Amino acid sequence: MRVRRGAAMAAAVLTALVPATTAASADPGGGIGDPYFPSYGNTGYDVGHYDLRLDYTPDTDRLKGTATLVTRTTEELDSFTLDFLLDVDSVRVNGRPADFSSEGHKLTVTPKRPVADDRQMTVVVKYSDTPSTAGWGGVPTAWHRGEDGVVALGEPEASWWWFPANDHPRDKATFDVRVQVPEGYEAISNGVLTGRQTRGGKDIYLWRQDRPAATYLATLAVGDYEVHEDETASGLPVYNAYAPTLGDLAGPARASIERGAEILEFQEESFGPYPYNALGGVVAGPDTDLGFALETQTRPVYSHAFFARGSNTYVVAHELAHQWWGDHVSVDTWQDIWLNEGFASYAEWMWSENEGEGTAQELAEYTYSRYPADSDFWTVPPGDPGSDDVFHSAVYDRGALAVHALRVEVGDEDFDAILRTWQEDHAHGNGDVGEFIALSEKISGKDLGGLFDTWLYTPERPASAPGAEGDG
Ligand code: ARG
Ligand code: ZN
Repeated sequence: MRVRRGAAMAAAVLTALVPATTAASADPGGGIGDPYFPSYGNTGYDVGHYDLRLDYTPDTDRLKGTATLVTRTTEELDSFTLDFLLDVDSVRVNGRPADFSSEGHKLTVTPKRPVADDRQMTVVVKYSDTPSTAGWGGVPTAWHRGEDGVVALGEPEASWWWFPANDHPRDKATFDVRVQVPEGYEAISNGVLTGRQTRGGKDIYLWRQDRPAATYLATLAVGDYEVHEDETASGLPVYNAYAPTLGDLAGPARASIERGAEILEFQEESFGPYPYNALGGVVAGPDTDLGFALETQTRPVYSHAFFARGSNTYVVAHELAHQWWGDHVSVDTWQDIWLNEGFASYAEWMWSENEGEGTAQELAEYTYSRYPADSDFWTVPPGDPGSDDVFHSAVYDRGALAVHALRVEVGDEDFDAILRTWQEDHAHGNGDVGEFIALSEKISGKDLGGLFDTWLYTPERPASAPGAEGDG
């Protein structure tokens, strides 16, 4: 399920309320410099690690937290900003109390003394609030409460409701998440569960994500989940969790998610070795108003709705493909969302071929013909969809057609080499579409400018489906 979001309005509100000037790059509220979401992220420092110690009570939606950000400054800082909406109790910078103020989704921190360039800067933020009451400018909440729990996830904005962050994929970091919940609740996050204990009527879970992750790929789920732990043939710990309210959908959900290891093994053949040391999925129940799935690192979260018509391994293939396309190699700006959604969608076609349910060529022709030439679908170029359309179906479906067009043009051997080399060249980092095109041209020895112009940047229907006989 792909949901369009009202980000155009949100972005307009953001630019109206947040000064866009970036003269001094640490200008409070200035943003990291994303053309689609100018106020998102921050400058002046780079986060290496987030250590989050959280205490959450589902009944009252009370969240208490201590977030320690281990950062490095990239300029001298009089003050700096973090993306965060919750009420803050105190901030310390390198051990000393700092002044702070909040406006919109920006927390501005002013240390007692400026911090020099290229220094370690440790920021400790203590906070307590009721995340469901926090919001700003019509931006959709990333705090999805159900009957008896919560799932935190969102894209592109995610952390604002549960931890202070440099909330932009350009600044990736490792995570330790310690969550304390009332006894009997499960608390699930990314990576490996390294510890679990019960103390004083609380269950405590320690999660570790020790490979860099974009902040929107961090998730937290609290509830009475049914947990299935396992290990893959290659020794990866598997941790899958199913909401207690799934009812009839629990069967199809399990039949889909539990094939994750098999899907992963298939995808490794095309994309290269799986970049993480844990695997899993979280399926939210119908009590949680979640209309989408998200590739949260090592542990995607799925809306129950994907399993309403039976098992669905395609959504699992999609979210697991994102572990390479989006997670391992992340966008540098949100305009390049095609690098995530085009490839994750194409991975569904590859999986279909493997399952004997239709070849990529058949799916390309079917997808092309599904949208008449005068459909609005063709007016949204997947390479520059606009901030209100980053999750438009054109980014997914035409995005996959663009990938197929590349494959047809360069042939399977070069296509595989391009995908694998891309992953190796940008391991645990970022990449942009220009770099992807350059790599494709280098490996294939072909000028591909025209092909990418046609499929990614032209707001009209290309003459025919890639690889199709005739002119479609
Ligand atoms: N990256 C997600 C996916 O492809 C899309 C998330 C859409 N987000 C949203 N808030 N609607 O599966
Ligand atoms: Zn996707």
